[in-house]
Amino acid sequence: EKGGFDHFMLKEIYEQPLAIKDTYRGRLLVDDAIIKMVGVEDNMKRFLNADRIIIVACGTSWHAGLVAEYIFEDLARIPVEVEYASEFRYRNPVITEKDVVIAISQSGETADTLAAIKLAKSKGAFVFGVCNVVGSTIARETHAGAYTHAGPEIGVASTKAFTTQITILTLIALRLARANGTMSSSDYRRQLQELELIPEKVAEALKADKHIQAIAETYKDSRNMLYLGRGYNFPVALEGALKLKEISYIHAEGYPAAEMKHGPIALIDENMPVIVIATKKGHYEKVVSNIQEIKARKGKIIGIVTQGDVSVRELADHVIEVPETLENLSPLLTTIPLQLLSYHIAVLLGKNVDQPRNLAKSVTVE
Ligand code: F6R
Repeated sequence: EKGGFDHFMLKEIYEQPLAIKDTYRGRLLVDDAIIKMVGVEDNMKRFLNADRIIIVACGTSWHAGLVAEYIFEDLARIPVEVEYASEFRYRNPVITEKDVVIAISQSGETADTLAAIKLAKSKGAFVFGVCNVVGSTIARETHAGAYTHAGPEIGVASTKAFTTQITILTLIALRLARANGTMSSSDYRRQLQELELIPEKVAEALKADKHIQAIAETYKDSRNMLYLGRGYNFPVALEGALKLKEISYIHAEGYPAAEMKHGPIALIDENMPVIVIATKKGHYEKVVSNIQEIKARKGKIIGIVTQGDVSVRELADHVIEVPETLENLSPLLTTIPLQLLSYHIAVLLGKNVDQPRNLAKSVTVE
């Protein structure tokens, strides 16, 4: 059942090339330069007339929503708010018929997300669901939607659900960017071509597994870890920290790299490993100077870098390479080493990776 892997989590991490392909299969038609998504086409007017998009979700799905905020605003120029469903539902939010709400949920059963959907519907908003589980409550309660088709996710810590959610949200953003005239046809083609290549690049990123295991061995006894990223990779830093917390019970926090100097830098000393996502294009020079600030305070640096990187390699204690891609697609690659790092640390510490303490796969109570 685990297909030769020791844990479901590892199996699901390794399934990502195929899961992402299954997500875009039949939707991403590169030769025709078309994205075909029935739920979006049928409701194109609602999307194009929207004043803004509000994304509601919890946990890892909320992190996918944060990545989507960068994608929708950057590529399609549509204003986006991302809300924790649990906060949204109780804070008397301003919602109108001009709003489009996108609810993201792997299980499709999360109580807070479901309540947020019901609230948005009662105010007349159009609600679009991004779920993995077919026929789930959220899939049924939304006006329209798109399934991620990631296949069953058994490990409690979400992995392939996250990358396939980002894939779906990228497809939607690109489709809208083309429909509202924001993106040129040549940029659109390039986006489609690059997205099609992501599964093989994820497979390439997975090859760092043994190297990551050795890094895990070095840092497994840490009490704290910091995860830093900027732009598209800031939400990936949050997700990396959540993965580590969930399965290894090591305290970790994700921050936008530039926020360091506003407080967290006080924590840095030789006992603080800092995982920095420093891929080319995404504010690279600025991240390099953030790394210098950490180095000056003796922090240990694990850099997630683009293949062939030189500058970060010179400064960092370890680097983990991922293939080059478009900046907006980079979260699909930078997430992979962070999943593997938390997995290996948890295994080395003897934790129950697939069934971490205190957690359930779907949170059906608030
Ligand atoms: C993290 C994790 C949780 C879920 C959250 C939302 O690894 O599994 O944070 O992401 O409970 O669940 P869904 O997506 O099913 O609504």
